[in-house]
Amino acid sequence: MSATPIARIAGLGTAVPARLVPNTEFEKYLETSDQWIVERTGIRQRYIAGAETLTDLCETASRTAMTGAGVTAADLDAIILGTISPDRRLPATACDLQARLVAPNAAAFDIAAACPGWIFALAVGEGMIASGRAKTVLCLGAEKLSSVTDMTDRSTAVLFGDGAGASVITRAGSDGRGILSIILGSDGNLADLLYIPAGGSTEPVSEKVVRERTHYIRMAGREVFKAAVLAMAKACDDALAKAGVRAEDIDLLVPHQANLRIIESTAKHSGIPMSKVMVNVDRYGNTSAASIPLALAQGIEEGRIRPGSLLLMVTFGAGFTWGSAVIRW
Ligand code: ACO
Repeated sequence: MSATPIARIAGLGTAVPARLVPNTEFEKYLETSDQWIVERTGIRQRYIAGAETLTDLCETASRTAMTGAGVTAADLDAIILGTISPDRRLPATACDLQARLVAPNAAAFDIAAACPGWIFALAVGEGMIASGRAKTVLCLGAEKLSSVTDMTDRSTAVLFGDGAGASVITRAGSDGRGILSIILGSDGNLADLLYIPAGGSTEPVSEKVVRERTHYIRMAGREVFKAAVLAMAKACDDALAKAGVRAEDIDLLVPHQANLRIIESTAKHSGIPMSKVMVNVDRYGNTSAASIPLALAQGIEEGRIRPGSLLLMVTFGAGFTWGSAVIRW
């Protein structure tokens, strides 16, 4: 029997910056090609912020999500933002967002869980609703990864994009729709395969840091790829088991959009055909914590996600961290 949901997603909103950057932009100054990027990653373009701040993107996404859920900012008991690219190191960008939305009743904080940031935020929000601490929670995943990407490093510059996803979660009704399971995991032993070496309190920003460009993301792509494939496969199995549903019951797999080959491998492991997999890495690149909400929004827009659809989500990122969820939409 499938699990009984405690919380549901009542509204969803997304935002991306205005500037679209096609792969051909990188051909102009890096030793790379549109063909390499498409073949190795599936990415064709991404959006890169100019004047937009992360708070700007979060605000747009949040207003759409609140309208969809039929709630006002005053209804929010918490704002939880998954991000590793906050506008400032202090305070949390969730606090800037709280001020912008005028949500005086909301406790606001950021979660640094990299790509699974939105699923981690969702899990904390669900827990707050389950415990009675909150009735209405705004859970976001949003990144301005362009601010921490070394645009002269071809092994990372071509991968990332900026964007925001916001979801309003409330107590589930009696119709079975809502979050059936969430799985979270981490392995800090492998942190140095995907990290930002400096700019934190161990080595604060200095002339040396800027000169050596160690305030930007460093990634051992091949190793991260292998770890992602293994962790995402197990996370899918665990989320399905916890929800009490089978892979064949899933209407749509909505995976983190980092690399088309990782997505294909995850789908194959779970026995879910690619016709039932949401793919939009071609359009946005890897937007980290914003990735799954952006894919959900597109799925809804295209009519692939409807009320009652059974969704499996799975994600992996720096930490390492991973997460998965089964949701009856
Ligand atoms: N253009 C052309 N060649 C390139 C580029 C580029 N943009 N980038 C790397 N190469 C070269 C490499 O230098 C290497 O050359 P060599 O063989 O002469 O050494 C060759 O291409 C192959 O490099 P690999 O790293 O083995 O390429 P791979 O097929 O693994 O693809 C990629 C690299 C796309 C990064 C892949 O490994 C990947 O997607 N990894 C996982 C990324 C991910 O999921 N990250 C997690 C989330 S991110 C987050 O949490 C913020």
